[in-house]
Amino acid sequence: MKSSFTLVSLFTAAALAVPSHTTPQLIDTLFPHYLVPVKSLQPDTPFGTQHTGTIIWERGNEEVALIAGFDVPDNGATTCCLNFVLPWTSSNSWIVTGSGILNYYGLSRPVDHVHDTWNHRPERFPQYSLGQIEVIRGGNGTVTGSIPCHLGTRMDFELVAFKPYGYTTVSWYELDIPVTGLTMQMWA
Ligand SMILES: *[C@@H]1O[C@H](CO)[C@@H](O)[C@H](O)[C@H]1NC(C)=O
Repeated sequence: MKSSFTLVSLFTAAALAVPSHTTPQLIDTLFPHYLVPVKSLQPDTPFGTQHTGTIIWERGNEEVALIAGFDVPDNGATTCCLNFVLPWTSSNSWIVTGSGILNYYGLSRPVDHVHDTWNHRPERFPQYSLGQIEVIRGGNGTVTGSIPCHLGTRMDFELVAFKPYGYTTVSWYELDIPVTGLTMQMWA
């Protein structure tokens, strides 16, 4: 009896050791170095990089899209995932109205934060959305999709309202303490 128990526990320890090898490890969390809004109503005006992220869509009126650029370290990560968190604080530094549902796209080149505008900005690449961000008021948003990390270079994304869900405004002051807004997690 005693020896068979020992055998079982040895087997269990060995079985558990295998998956822990392949469990994804969070290597780094990046903050965007560029938050560049582009605005349909001022299509040739560059707004530069901001501390505040803004995305607006109202049918027949205004659209504000946001280009977020990350400087990605060469740290051996393989999979990158966007994250979006809006903590409750005494002085909430964010506003969400409407659906709070966004799509994000990869881009064919890094944003030029000095010159790019609504009319002149990087093309989406690929054309289809890489995933969706459902903003949660006071919590971690639900983000679908993950992207291979491009190590040692820039990774830029365009964030826009998911239009079938109607009007939305998402605006936040990007902060590290407490983490507020858009970040990118790097996993290996
Ligand atoms: C978001 O998720 C992180 C990691 O699980 C957690 O530490 C943090 O408290 C969460 N933030 C909010 C506002 O829920």
